[in-house]
Amino acid sequence: MKIYICPGSYDPVTSGHADIITRAADHCDKLIIALGENSLKNTFFTLKERIAFLKKVFNGNEKIEIESYSGLTTEYARIKKATALVRGLRAVSDFEYEYQMAMLNRKLNPDVETLFFMASPEYSYISSGAVREFLRNDADITGLVPECIREDIIALSRKKMMK
Ligand code: PNS
Repeated sequence: MKIYICPGSYDPVTSGHADIITRAADHCDKLIIALGENSLKNTFFTLKERIAFLKKVFNGNEKIEIESYSGLTTEYARIKKATALVRGLRAVSDFEYEYQMAMLNRKLNPDVETLFFMASPEYSYISSGAVREFLRNDADITGLVPECIREDIIALSRKKMMK
């Protein structure tokens, strides 16, 4: 059983994430979308909200599981018996950060490989940060996030900003 992990913050999940996850799932038997709980990183959406969005997007896909973890990704991968971590690459600018993280993860556990998927061109400009910026300014996020969660994201973000 080939198990891959897609680690990330997913704050929120974007159309680009959904594309990479769907494509990666074609190459393994089980793909775990793993939300890293990073106490240093303040997210806009809570862990529960981010998981709910992902569940709605991948509802019915039997290969895909959604979980959260704390601590090192490689340690989580070892516990889950996963052989690879999957990350998406958009532009050259992603490379430096991703290369460093892949090398650190290799040092932590050489048995866990990092696999990179190139973002599809139509999604290569999308990031969770850009989605949050659009939401803060009430700009149209159509196409940036999976359509089935677009209205949920807008409603929840408006509620948060009213607080
Ligand atoms: O998509 P993101 O927000 O860049 O994802 C970041 C994430 C969760 C993959 C990264 O912060 C992470 O791996 N955190 C867990 C701690 C860890 O293992 N760090 C890498 C080696 S120091």
